[in-house]
Amino acid sequence: MFHWLEKRPFFFGVGIFLVIAFAGLVMIIPHFVQQSRPLIGTKPYTILEISGRQVYMQNGCSNCHSQLVRPFKHETDRYGAYSLSGEYAYDRPFLWGSERTGPDLMRVGNYRTTDWHENHMLDPEGVVPGSIMPRYPWMFTNSADIDTAWAEAETVRVVFNTPYNKDIPMMDGSFEQVKLSATVEGGRTDALAEAKLISAEMKNQDVKDMVAAGKVPEIVALIAYLNSLK
Ligand code: HEC
Repeated sequence: MFHWLEKRPFFFGVGIFLVIAFAGLVMIIPHFVQQSRPLIGTKPYTILEISGRQVYMQNGCSNCHSQLVRPFKHETDRYGAYSLSGEYAYDRPFLWGSERTGPDLMRVGNYRTTDWHENHMLDPEGVVPGSIMPRYPWMFTNSADIDTAWAEAETVRVVFNTPYNKDIPMMDGSFEQVKLSATVEGGRTDALAEAKLISAEMKNQDVKDMVAAGKVPEIVALIAYLNSLK
């Protein structure tokens, strides 16, 4: 039936291209049209958490840490439930990573605490003997960029319809809201209030002094982010 086509390589090539392109479109287009569906209980990041996420990206943590638990027993035993796509609905960009020099951090908020991170980020070797993770002492004195974090939250709210200030369904049937102030000044106030809760659990004096002076150290934002990874 298609002998005439087999004798004409050009049209045969075009035919193959059309078939593969069509199959591709059938697979790809629905994903763009459909909004990615967040898993029940997945909340957008607060401004402080976004700011910590930016610190995480700036310092290249993903060069050594993945954020994706694969569906294998040895992974779920160690890190917890394997990752589902709906958990990344508010991750822009996602930070799956491809390198695990250090452990996966997808669910680190379940088994590490604020004071553990405080000691570990300052001196990993002191907490985990033999650790090759670098020290990050400057995070205890550098200010986090809260204004940019607020701008990012406002951008994803407008562009991607991220549900700030809206009821978000939780696993137990209740609803929760993540607040996003309409102004950058309001965003700074919210982030500082959240930072105070975290710094209260820390012992570093530089951090406490900065927060008392109305500034948010990078380490506090980073810990807020790490605690949110569950
Ligand atoms: C050079 C590679 C490397 C880089 C870069 C790195 N880490 Fe690590 N990280 C490790 C290794 C190795 C471990 C395991 C030993 C330890 O706990 O210190 C680890 C452990 C951790 C743990 C403990 C996880 C657990 O389950 O016990 C956390 C949290 C962590 N890193 C956060 C970070 C953050 C945040 C950054 C970026 C600021 C970062 N790491 C950058 C290599 C790295």
